[in-house]
Amino acid sequence: MVVRSLMIGCGSCLPRQSVSNHELAQRVDTSDDWIVQRTGIRSRHIVGEGETTSELALGAAQQALAHAGIPASRVDLIVLATTTPDHTFPATAVKVQARLGITTGFAFDVQAVCSGFIYALAVADNFLRLGQARTALVIGADTFSRILDWEDRTTCVLFGDGAGAVVLEAADGQAGTVADRGVLSTHLHSDGRHYDALWVDGGPSATQTTGHVRMNGQEVFRHAVSRLSETAAEALAVNGVDPSQLDWLVPHQANLRIIEATARKLHLPLERAVISVDHHGNTSAASIPLALTEAVTDGRIKRGDLILMEAMGGGFTWGSALVRW
Ligand code: ACO
Repeated sequence: MVVRSLMIGCGSCLPRQSVSNHELAQRVDTSDDWIVQRTGIRSRHIVGEGETTSELALGAAQQALAHAGIPASRVDLIVLATTTPDHTFPATAVKVQARLGITTGFAFDVQAVCSGFIYALAVADNFLRLGQARTALVIGADTFSRILDWEDRTTCVLFGDGAGAVVLEAADGQAGTVADRGVLSTHLHSDGRHYDALWVDGGPSATQTTGHVRMNGQEVFRHAVSRLSETAAEALAVNGVDPSQLDWLVPHQANLRIIEATARKLHLPLERAVISVDHHGNTSAASIPLALTEAVTDGRIKRGDLILMEAMGGGFTWGSALVRW
């Protein structure tokens, strides 16, 4: 008998304020044309004063629980992926746990930057399949606007803030094939030799400051296209699935050109990729559950659809997941 982590609900939360490229061009030396051509981004949501990662995470979690139709008290595991926690410690996950009124089970953060949601999903799936938890909230939440250098046009135009969440529930007695619903497989990778290709130049131990995002954009781009195609192919091969059997690609939303290149390598028409980078920008760990929730809410993704998720981020970290919704 195989235990599967069913995805029984999803939700999202965005800051109130949306900032267009034109508005950004009034703050830094850039243009709507440049940003759209290089990235596909047209606008992004940015937190206002007092808005925090935990509040966005809480909003997404509440929406996901309502969508799943279960009370918060049933959740016995929260895995929250973030690179921008409210505080250095405790974990933002325990704040969300308390705000949901949950006093049992356990909650913690994982940090894999833009791959964070895939990492958190893999961690939660393994806890559920081992029987150490039964109902999990997997949350991706980030407020990258707080760690951007707003004078650096090569990075500040790329990111946005937001949160997305899914509810996983362990289910027994499935066939053990790709016909099953739930998380079918997850695949994680990292290569720390690229530590400083995409990093933050501050931290508690190194500088006692928060620091700002620094990036070698071209190196990240080059690696992203190769690593994402590899891990997508790996998820398909392990499950014996042909790309033509996929209903949806829900990729990390960093750059439209990266999404196009990955879809092309998979021989998947771009219409089958869920794209939200145009109005979300790169929301790091939040980008996959944000895109997923949008496509579930507007009816594109339906129960039983086969979905490939993939992401890459600082570290480098990268990974994929094959899921039947
Ligand atoms: N507005 C206008 N001009 C700009 C801007 C800007 N915001 N930023 C850079 N430029 C200029 C540069 O100064 C340069 O000018 P120069 O030729 O006079 O020196 C010119 O534009 C070209 O710069 P490049 O860095 O060569 O531009 P490129 O085509 O590589 O695009 C980009 C840059 C969009 C960052 C691209 O490299 C990229 O998308 N990389 C991936 C980065 C990424 O997605 N990171 C997110 C985190 S990782 C992840 O999620 C996968």
